[in-house]
Amino acid sequence: METLLLDGKTEDLEKAAQIIKDGGVVGVPTETVYGLAADALNGAAVKRIFEAKGRPADNPLIVHIKNIDDIDRYSLVSEIPDKAKALMKKFWPGPLTIIMKKGENVPDEVTAGLSTVAVRFPSHETVRRIMELSDRPLAAPSANISGRPSPTAFSHVVNDMYGKIEAIVDGGDCSVGVESTVITMVTDVPRILRPGYITPEDISSVIGDVEVDKAVLNQIESNEKVASPGMKYKHYSPRAKVILLRGESEKFIDYVNSKDIRNLAVICYDEEADRIDAATVTEGRENDLEEQMRRVFDALRKVDRDDIDVVYAHCPKAQGIGMALYNRLIRAAGFEVIDIE
Ligand code: TXA
Ligand code: MG
Repeated sequence: METLLLDGKTEDLEKAAQIIKDGGVVGVPTETVYGLAADALNGAAVKRIFEAKGRPADNPLIVHIKNIDDIDRYSLVSEIPDKAKALMKKFWPGPLTIIMKKGENVPDEVTAGLSTVAVRFPSHETVRRIMELSDRPLAAPSANISGRPSPTAFSHVVNDMYGKIEAIVDGGDCSVGVESTVITMVTDVPRILRPGYITPEDISSVIGDVEVDKAVLNQIESNEKVASPGMKYKHYSPRAKVILLRGESEKFIDYVNSKDIRNLAVICYDEEADRIDAATVTEGRENDLEEQMRRVFDALRKVDRDDIDVVYAHCPKAQGIGMALYNRLIRAAGFEVIDIE
């Protein structure tokens, strides 16, 4: 298939909107990561997303909207709890996805047969314009091939999806860089299923008690039941084996320099690169977690080369927004961490 490469011009966004209306699939920028979007109310179109990604059919998609009223307008949800309303008011548009009881209009292809649906109102201007022009809610997972690092740049989407979908819209680099925080409101106490830029503390300051699902920080046994199907799949992995090192910068440098540098790559802080013998990919400055979040998936893509067998990276502290970074890296590493203190 010929894939149209589009940008933010009005006529390009009109083309993207028409493709959506016709049941096609379009790669779209959001503030978190690029998404692979189709009309959320068209089950056949949504099926094509799963095919393009190679995504397991039991892993549900997020429905994106362009304003809060769309939830009622398209009957996406059967009931909006008061605490969900409070979260919407505070954090939307933005990188928070809210799971509620599903409404009658949402096709099973979107929710993978679950009785709940995940809803997100993104802040990125481009995807909002496409929703306005198409007048459709968009089902969209991250626009990577299933299992690969999420795409945070137009080129990432072109690499993974060229020839598989109708169009890709260039919206520049994503400003957040990791996927949205996912919270479910159908449990007794609201529970975070995936950490993101909106932290448990941010959420708790609006609605009080909130839990963090065990699978956010821990490895799940293959036979365990998970609250979010996405948690059980291998994620974000380059071909090489990724190993996280827990300890301070000096120890990190000593440790990686003690290794054979052949077939080795190190994801390190900007300040460390000059002192490391092996090939390095920088992820930002040591004390700038936001920049590390923005760059983490690009770094994992850069080390995904045939000549690299082992990748060392820092193990971030799972606190504040660091929890999101930790969650992505620990999955890329298959939960392999070495204490070097
Ligand atoms: O930032 C984001 O959320 C990006 C952009 C494109 O919006 N999207 C994204 O989608 O990360 P995806 O499909 O890669 O991740 C969605 C996660 C998956 O782990 C999925 O299992 C979970 O949300 N999910 C979706 N609907 C759910 C539901 N009804 N119940 C539990 N988990 C759900
Ligand atoms: Mg994803």
